[in-house]
Amino acid sequence: MVIRNNHKKSRGLWNTRLGFILAASGSAVGLGNIWKFPYIVGQNGGGAFVLIYILCTIAVGLPIMLAEFTIGRKTCLNPVGAFQSLKPKSHWVKIGYMGVLAGFFILSFYAVVGGWTLAYVVKAFTHTMSNFSSPKEAGQFFGSFIGNTWEVLFYHALFMAICVGIVLRGIHGGIEKACKVLMPTLVIILIFLMFRALTLPGAMEGIEFYLKPDFSKIGPQTILIALGQAFFSLSLGMGCMLTYGSYLPEQENLTSATVYVVIFDTVIALLVGMVIFPAVFAMGLEPTEGPSLVFSVLPAVFVGMPFGNLVSIIFFTLLAIAAITSGISLLEVVVAYFIDQRKWDRKKAVLVTSVTIFAFGVPSGLSFGVLSEAKLFDMNFFDHVDNIASNYLLPLGGMLTAIFVGWVWGTKSAEEEIEKYETKFHWGHVWGFLIRYISPVAVFLVFCAKFV
Ligand code: PHE
Repeated sequence: MVIRNNHKKSRGLWNTRLGFILAASGSAVGLGNIWKFPYIVGQNGGGAFVLIYILCTIAVGLPIMLAEFTIGRKTCLNPVGAFQSLKPKSHWVKIGYMGVLAGFFILSFYAVVGGWTLAYVVKAFTHTMSNFSSPKEAGQFFGSFIGNTWEVLFYHALFMAICVGIVLRGIHGGIEKACKVLMPTLVIILIFLMFRALTLPGAMEGIEFYLKPDFSKIGPQTILIALGQAFFSLSLGMGCMLTYGSYLPEQENLTSATVYVVIFDTVIALLVGMVIFPAVFAMGLEPTEGPSLVFSVLPAVFVGMPFGNLVSIIFFTLLAIAAITSGISLLEVVVAYFIDQRKWDRKKAVLVTSVTIFAFGVPSGLSFGVLSEAKLFDMNFFDHVDNIASNYLLPLGGMLTAIFVGWVWGTKSAEEEIEKYETKFHWGHVWGFLIRYISPVAVFLVFCAKFV
């Protein structure tokens, strides 16, 4: 126990329970909630999709998150070391390598979009976007911005530099401190924006679209999209929550922490919908706009609003904050691997990995400008990296993690770890059933859908 605690301390630990929950929530809440969630709800029919998304989150996301936290706290290691120590000399360690690779890939393009959010904060501050006459004009502005090589590269690098600055300071001093300030700020800004959006004339139509389920719009494909989104949004399937769990002091209660993080992530996504849909409908725009919704439609929405520029500054600051707290969790997974497995010190690990990730991300950043014609199978570099990581590595990693915990390491061993420092895990049998049967099968279906 003394050795284990010393090992833990030397890697870094969360200082408080709240700090851990906020950091894990910070990882979960990101561009997935604020940028992706509203546009896929918009494209998939609104209310009914939201209901299915919530169901996927509870039935699949929640059990896998608990599994990741448990492996992390049990082994106190990065994803590679963790699977290695639970099943030495087996192929299961590959789940860990896949996770580190997924972290590398996701951060490489995530930092590009993160850079866009930083740029929009600056543009909002400098009133560059305060006189669009139509959403079309805002869309053109966005299009020409993401095609501007040096500007995109500058903000991309800035986003990476901010993540580096935080992760360099370690677990408690860096990530935990930052999230403790940033996450509550995010909630306050969102609630403020929600009131703003709800009081716009015509807002109720948006609420109806968003909250009134219309099941005629739901098909098998919709369910699969909802499941995939739950995965990405909860940061599951790549050992990110596993890594954060590895910095937990022994006595933390894992089940309640899992429930808090899942609720936090879901509530934020739902709140974002309460901001976006009233605003979009009040402006007479279409909810099916797609990925450009946030960047090209909202600035136009803000122009039409009283105090629009202020609201725009606030909104993009919020988006940047959410992206940063997720970006640091992605970087931490890769960094933890080099610290634990390759025995690098934190500084070397952070600097070497971040420069490499940035360099690998450059073609993604240029995919909407000078490299926009460089397409393979009709997708640019950015699309390919996103596709490989989000649609293949994450689902595969999540499914294998569930199978590993359910059938290889065993739910019994996992429950022992969970119950070590808390009273009886009353939902143990329900969780066992979900992790053994429901999660792997559901994720398998998502995976199959890619080939159909
Ligand atoms: N969950 C983050 C978001 O919603 C993205 C992410 C995925 C972060 C995987 C870490 C690991 O934006």
